[in-house]
Amino acid sequence: MTSFGFGIVGTGMIAGEVADAIQQAGNARLAAVSSRALNRAQEFVAARAGARAVEGLEPLLARDDVDAVYVAIPTALKEAVALAAIAAGKHVLVDKPFMDAASVARMAKAASAAGLLFMDATHFVHHPRRAAVQSVADERIGKRLGLHCVFYGPLDDRSDIRFDPALEPTGALGDLGWYCMRAIVEYLRPEGAVSECDLVLRRDGTTGAVTEAIGTLGFASGETMTFGSGFQCGTRLEDFRLLGEKGALAMDDFVMNWTNSIGSQAAHVPTGYTIRTRSMTPEDFVFVETPSQTPQQVLMIENFVDLAASGEAEARASFANASIQTQSLLDAVWAAAA
Ligand SMILES: NC(=O)c1ccc[n+]([C@@H]2O[C@H](COP(=O)([O-])OP(=O)(O)OC[C@H]3O[C@@H](n4cnc5c(N)ncnc54)[C@H](OP(=O)(O)O)[C@@H]3O)[C@@H](O)[C@H]2O)c1
Repeated sequence: MTSFGFGIVGTGMIAGEVADAIQQAGNARLAAVSSRALNRAQEFVAARAGARAVEGLEPLLARDDVDAVYVAIPTALKEAVALAAIAAGKHVLVDKPFMDAASVARMAKAASAAGLLFMDATHFVHHPRRAAVQSVADERIGKRLGLHCVFYGPLDDRSDIRFDPALEPTGALGDLGWYCMRAIVEYLRPEGAVSECDLVLRRDGTTGAVTEAIGTLGFASGETMTFGSGFQCGTRLEDFRLLGEKGALAMDDFVMNWTNSIGSQAAHVPTGYTIRTRSMTPEDFVFVETPSQTPQQVLMIENFVDLAASGEAEARASFANASIQTQSLLDAVWAAAA
């Protein structure tokens, strides 16, 4: 059995998914789970052999078998828990989004100063498709000009944390728009800073939570980006189109791949990207498969453990910088709402 133990703070939806990923990973094990209420932690670990249930943060951080803490709680509470975990000598995997880029920078800096790893829990960047797209984009579609990116996921339960602006201040923008901003960082990669930004927000009439955010971004280096994210559309909708001088690269599952992600387990539907150039019609579009037997959330855990063990400074800094850049883009968009 591997000796690298994870402790999880939170017992909600994504905590369950990542707990299962930890148990599937070849180099990690679930050591303990912390809840504000012991019975919820006990219920959480009942189906997960070997894990201990604890109440509150301190008993989790005091455990010697916890090498890393996965923080899966509302956004307003993440930094305090992550900093406490780092102070206790634990690596931290912190779920997105964050309060602002300065908050991400504080966590990344504290972890680095202590020789520990800080990583945000974006799954898709760990799928081999990300590196494949990065390496072929220039050759297949030419100089990158812009990105159109959409991520909708239906949600109407007003008791969900996403409808509480005190816990999730940016609502659908932070929860789903995060991935559109991360797509800029991973795939559009503009050299210049944000030079223009427009935003339309829709809010829930009862709670005031942001339920939809649609916007445009312009960069000083010339690229443009449009995005949309929200809870109201009656289906999950992912649409990614990277525009280049020679053509376009598209995905309809850029966040949660159809084949084997937390959003879809359609094993017969391949994961990849589509290239179209000139006046191609659908029968000529080129689909390039980028398979991975291992689900991306499991790859995230395996990569995290490898990076925690290796201590590679450049790779650690690269993950931290991607988190800061993504949150900085969200901050720029959010500022346009003010
Ligand atoms: N990376 C991804 O793919 C991904 C996917 C989904 C969500 N997320 C992000 O992860 C975060 C959690 O999302 P979720 O869907 O798992 O939420 P959730 O189901 O509501 O779970 C949140 C958990 O946080 C704990 N918590 C601590 N203080 C709380 C408070 N004051 N109010 C409510 N809960 C509190 C609760 O556990 P106890 O009651 O046991 O303490 C609760 O189960 C969000 O910021 C979300 O954007 C990331």
